[in-house]
Amino acid sequence: MRHPFIAGNWKMHKTVHDAVVYTKEFRRLVADVTEVEIVIAPAFTALHAVAEAARNSNVGVAAQDLYWEARGAFTGEVSAEMIREAGAEYVIIGHSERRALFGETDADVNRKTRAALAAGLTPIVCIGETLAEREANRTFEVLDRQIRDGLPGLTPEQLSALVVAYEPVWAIGTGRTATPAQAEQAHTHIRARLADGFGPDPARECHLVYGGSVKPGNIRELMEAGDVDGALVGGASLDAEAFAEIVAGSLKAPV
Ligand code: 13P
Repeated sequence: MRHPFIAGNWKMHKTVHDAVVYTKEFRRLVADVTEVEIVIAPAFTALHAVAEAARNSNVGVAAQDLYWEARGAFTGEVSAEMIREAGAEYVIIGHSERRALFGETDADVNRKTRAALAAGLTPIVCIGETLAEREANRTFEVLDRQIRDGLPGLTPEQLSALVVAYEPVWAIGTGRTATPAQAEQAHTHIRARLADGFGPDPARECHLVYGGSVKPGNIRELMEAGDVDGALVGGASLDAEAFAEIVAGSLKAPV
């Protein structure tokens, strides 16, 4: 059985100092949680300090991006090996902000995903449609393209270890969360496409999480939607108490 997977994407927030203060408080707040895979993703500058502050805890650490080459003349870029050595075990890839603001393509996502896997990092690969695409009834077509062009070359074993984050762009930072039914519909579609490409077992085993205005007040209903294995949280992960509430809320209430 997969545990829920809950990751906090801090985006371009928190200095090293603030990140360490947060991590010390947060690890205490979630210390008793055993059945959730918990990850925080600070900016590169705070990655090592956060990994140190989270050492020997149940809180994992992710980078927010990487470059696919191992080393070389790539000013400003950071390799998978550098990220691992800094203490992270995960990396977010293809976030919609990177796609929209920094021109990242599905081919880039594929190179980054393969580089991350080769270095032993768990990729958190983000996909999702814009509002215009949804309104033009192109949601599934966009998701299909992002899967087809973003994930080729992965083995079924690699797919089963992957985290795929469905983040509808219109729900990110807008306060407009997808309804549980919308999340379920997209996730069911994504899972079926992953099964087509990699087989039913790897598709079932990989974590498929939802992102977009997740808050303490809506995590439960989202987790109750079919096929939602967790969440990628932006704004609400910046506050340690709110994020700890989301972690607690991701555990399905006992029946
Ligand atoms: P918000 O939770 O702020 O909408 O951001 C979601 C997101 O982009 C996580 O990667």
